[in-house]
Amino acid sequence: MNSSKNKVSSAYPVSKSKSILTIEDRIAAQLPAWQERLARLLSESGDKPIGEITVAAVYGGMRGLFALVTEISHVDPSLGLLIRGYSVEDLLEKLPKCEGSDFPLLGGLYHLLLVGEFPTRADALAVEDLWRARQGLPGYVVDLLKAMPESTHPMTLFSQAILAMQPESVAARAYHAGISRTEYWRPMLEDALTITANLPTLAATVYNLKYRGGAEAVPDPSLDWSANFALMIGKGDDAEYKDLCRLFMTLHSDQESGNASAHTSHLVSSTLSDLYLSSSAGLNALAGPLHGLANQETLRWLQALQEQYGGLPSPEELRAFALETLNQGMVIPGYGHGVLRRTDPRFTAQYRFAEAYLPDDPLFQLARRVYEVVPEVLGELGKVKNPWPNVDAISGTLQHHYGIEPEFCTVLFGASRLLGLTAHAVWARALGQPIERPRSFTTDRIEEILSPPVRVDSPEINTYATEI
Ligand SMILES: CC(C)(COP(=O)(O)OP(=O)(O)OC[C@H]1O[C@@H](n2cnc3c(N)ncnc32)[C@H](O)[C@@H]1OP(=O)(O)O)[C@@H](O)C(=O)NCCC(=O)NCCS
Repeated sequence: MNSSKNKVSSAYPVSKSKSILTIEDRIAAQLPAWQERLARLLSESGDKPIGEITVAAVYGGMRGLFALVTEISHVDPSLGLLIRGYSVEDLLEKLPKCEGSDFPLLGGLYHLLLVGEFPTRADALAVEDLWRARQGLPGYVVDLLKAMPESTHPMTLFSQAILAMQPESVAARAYHAGISRTEYWRPMLEDALTITANLPTLAATVYNLKYRGGAEAVPDPSLDWSANFALMIGKGDDAEYKDLCRLFMTLHSDQESGNASAHTSHLVSSTLSDLYLSSSAGLNALAGPLHGLANQETLRWLQALQEQYGGLPSPEELRAFALETLNQGMVIPGYGHGVLRRTDPRFTAQYRFAEAYLPDDPLFQLARRVYEVVPEVLGELGKVKNPWPNVDAISGTLQHHYGIEPEFCTVLFGASRLLGLTAHAVWARALGQPIERPRSFTTDRIEEILSPPVRVDSPEINTYATEI
């Protein structure tokens, strides 16, 4: 195996600057109060029920079961995503912007996710600097991706790339050298910064291998995190696409703890696996069509619709196409949600971008018509709890406008989502959350629990006693 001597040299020397200490210190400063609060809560109320486990929840994918704790984000059925209490609209309006752009610096959002305090512009720029200092992929990662068959899905390559970087984990080394479990979050924070620093380069490397003849992805230290992705896939001169990257990366960054990728990554990390292992696992869950792959599936569904009717179908034609999809036992991608009960504000933010920058795009016009027709079709089924569009109903359409292939869209989702997943993992370890270990039932056991208790003097007991 190649060694990390093959590492592509970074534009900046990797050093522990003051800013790293600032993030670490800001988290550390919050821990005593959290530890005291949680210890008190558990000692005073540890045995109090806060909900119930129903048979439907057990058989229904734990739907609606509150069983996880995170302070970082929450999905409210009617308000949508709240990151540290800030709505999507708040985030887009208030996060520090990139110079010359109306869209956020992702460094500010990562500060908010990690530290929990709303970032100043200096905070946002400090995180962007921390990322700059950690950019550079080990050469063996690129070699590994190049060795894969051409037909490999971009999400497989992306997940493999993160997993392949695992030998870089400082947390894994610290653990094996004997670090206390209470201190493990500190090297995890370092891994979190290294992984997230390299997400644009990793995503661009995958993109370039798949679609640009393997062009090398080299970040420009003068650009912000999101714009660097645009640059590295050959769109450095496209100011609009850079802004779309900033918007997309902000909107997809987190979605509380119970969704499939967040929960997978949390579960894996709860075993004290390092962040490379848990991030790759989270991406593998995201790669499913009912989760993150829905953006690819939506784009393909829209394209099939366009092809069938040779352009924009009438509302009646669209309705017939949607019913045909449902009759085939398939879902309408981009619609529905496990928690939300309204149009996803992340859909609305992208819809507004499309109205401003690509109003005449034929695929956007189609996505708009789908929005007019599909909620009613789904509502008529009588079983869909949320017939409204989610984030994936439009994200692929916007990417497609700027030339991004359907199969690549979920990689962008993953690059953004790892900001949230890594922040959750650092905090879970900092607060000493234990390894997850729920119990499972057999159906026999469930039926036994539910059957009415048999009285001791009942005839059934007597008959049974006679038989044995
Ligand atoms: C997101 C999703 C998985 C949530 O599933 P859920 O929590 O089980 O949603 P519901 O409780 O509303 O599901 C109730 C029923 O409606 C169906 N349903 C929900 N959304 C649907 C959709 N978009 N198309 C067709 N049927 C849908 C479910 O499959 C389920 O049917 P079943 O009882 O026959 O199994 C689901 O809405 C879906 O598959 N959407 C399409 C894929 C997608 O966009 N995923 C990205 C989500 S961010």
